[in-house]
Amino acid sequence: MNFNNKIEKIGIVFAMKGEALPTIQHFKLERIKGNYPIELYGNAENKIVVSLNGTCSVTGVDNVGTQPATLNTYVLINEVNPDIIINAGTAGGFAHSGAKIGDVYIGSNRVVYHDRRIPLPNFDTYGIGNYELINTDFLAERIGLKQGIISTGNSLDHVDRDMQLMNQNNASLKDMEAASVAWVCQLMNKLFIPIKSVTDIVDSGIPTEIEFKANFKLATQNLNLKLIHLIDFIYQKSLEEIVSSKK
Ligand code: ADE
Repeated sequence: MNFNNKIEKIGIVFAMKGEALPTIQHFKLERIKGNYPIELYGNAENKIVVSLNGTCSVTGVDNVGTQPATLNTYVLINEVNPDIIINAGTAGGFAHSGAKIGDVYIGSNRVVYHDRRIPLPNFDTYGIGNYELINTDFLAERIGLKQGIISTGNSLDHVDRDMQLMNQNNASLKDMEAASVAWVCQLMNKLFIPIKSVTDIVDSGIPTEIEFKANFKLATQNLNLKLIHLIDFIYQKSLEEIVSSKK
């Protein structure tokens, strides 16, 4: 990765169409090519491309989760070859780390999994993932974002063992895509930034689905405001500039 190259093409991976619509509308993006079920929306010369996980042909719901997000990221990179991949979406936050409904976070340090438990030598480490992120301090400060470690799994709710692993890995956020997007970006040598807005408090004791539905609109509004700001901010900047704390 060349630290001096300007970022000219930005790809944004979303799981849910409802999370992405304000950004698609703001940048006047139009549907472009894409392999089923992935949906790509781009502007002139595909400088900004939003890529959705698409919908399940059986149930009609968004294809949330790690498998569609992996495919989505691969298709986006293959078709458009962006300089940077942003994974935007909603997440659960932890009260014990100060998360509030509607807060918007940028991932920091690393992204992990909490539901890939493989208690065999080296497979245990593989299961956690531990995908390293660039230093996001400067972006967090300039855009006004909280920072935290994101932990990914394939369930909206959690069992006790998930909670133990999330605590062990110092997670501040729980989502269903970031680690799988990070993995593909690592394999394909792409700069990666996750940005997530809090719909529910994982350690509140309230059923996740109730908080998720009640707060989805607010979290999506906040997410899109910050995401648009982030895109405008990093466009035409170099990696050196976006990680710099001096500018
Ligand atoms: N998306 C929004 N809230 C979530 C949660 N608690 N877990 C996983 N994904 C989420």
